[in-house]
Amino acid sequence: MTTEQLVVNAPQPKTGRQERYEAAAEFVRQCYSECGRDAAIDDRITDVWHAIGQTGRYTHTPMELAHGAKMAWRNSNRCIGRHFWDRLRVRDCRDATTPTAVYEALVDHITAATNGGNIRPTISVFPAAMQDSPRVRIWNTQLIRYAGYDTGTGIVGDPDTAALTRYCQSRGWVGEGTPFDLLPLVIQVGDREPELFELPEETVVEVPLSHPEHEWFADLELQWYAVPIVSDMILEIGGLRYPAAPFNGWYMGTEIGSRDLGDRDRYDKLPEIGERLGFETTTDRSLWKDRALTALNRAVLHSFDRHGVRIVDHHTAADQFERFEHEERAAGRSVTGDRSWLLPPNASSTTHVFHTEYDETVRTPNFFYRDASLPN
Ligand code: ARG
Repeated sequence: MTTEQLVVNAPQPKTGRQERYEAAAEFVRQCYSECGRDAAIDDRITDVWHAIGQTGRYTHTPMELAHGAKMAWRNSNRCIGRHFWDRLRVRDCRDATTPTAVYEALVDHITAATNGGNIRPTISVFPAAMQDSPRVRIWNTQLIRYAGYDTGTGIVGDPDTAALTRYCQSRGWVGEGTPFDLLPLVIQVGDREPELFELPEETVVEVPLSHPEHEWFADLELQWYAVPIVSDMILEIGGLRYPAAPFNGWYMGTEIGSRDLGDRDRYDKLPEIGERLGFETTTDRSLWKDRALTALNRAVLHSFDRHGVRIVDHHTAADQFERFEHEERAAGRSVTGDRSWLLPPNASSTTHVFHTEYDETVRTPNFFYRDASLPN
């Protein structure tokens, strides 16, 4: 699915006061009732009504922000990791209003979330979008990602970041040219030119890949970073939008082993691995792709384990998701989901997700894609 389609699917921002008030009131009711604070609902809705009437906006309390962000994760139809929604650590960064302050908060996020390998699901929420104040934007799709250099004869690195890499180069950034160079952070406040910040190397944990049985695997010199911190989505809570709200969980192995390193339009490593394994790569019927995928996925799980970095395999993740479905029903809530995204790319029919239908309704709070992918 393209970003464009996603933007069409996203509800329009709540610009009208009446609409914003209704979205706010609905959120306050649900949030306070889930948090056992029913008695405070009416007063809070009155406050919000006055605030929106006078200024067109209202401000979330720390409790509303924290629980709203958790609800947004719980409502993320594509995420198989939602069993842990209530353990999200929410960092209130609404006072960061300069690129440098944002950068420092992001470095702190990486360190706190990485936690020496015992990864903690974390979100950092920067100022809400307001008509009259400058908007904070992070142009990276994830805080940690590898550059992709267009060499004319092919891409060195991650083809998925080629456009951002070109933008960074146009702004004077020079990478080393390896397949695994960390991109700088590109942070913009208001209409001023985005600023580039190099990630401090010591804050980024990376895992070199080896295989439990094939010693040659390490010679491929593959690696991946420990923590996926998605930074290209807008957090919407109760009619307010937070355009910069990077969040992370830990990886599911297939994200790296099947997609990032396996996809033909990403690192495309299956042919090389198939050859090294001695498979007949000239015929599909040898199932060399399936077997190379399995080897690559085993290497990812094995290496993250060896380096003490938390990662979940797709079988365990599916089981946890099934538990989430039961727990939600027990709490009186129905579960929504996008089956095409929930399905692991490997061995999908061995998981219950394959055999289940999901209601695709999109609820808020939630995360939505932003509409531009590069500064203009
Ligand atoms: N699929 C993305 C990647 O491979 C990461 C998306 C978020 N994943 C997560 N486990 N929270 O980098």
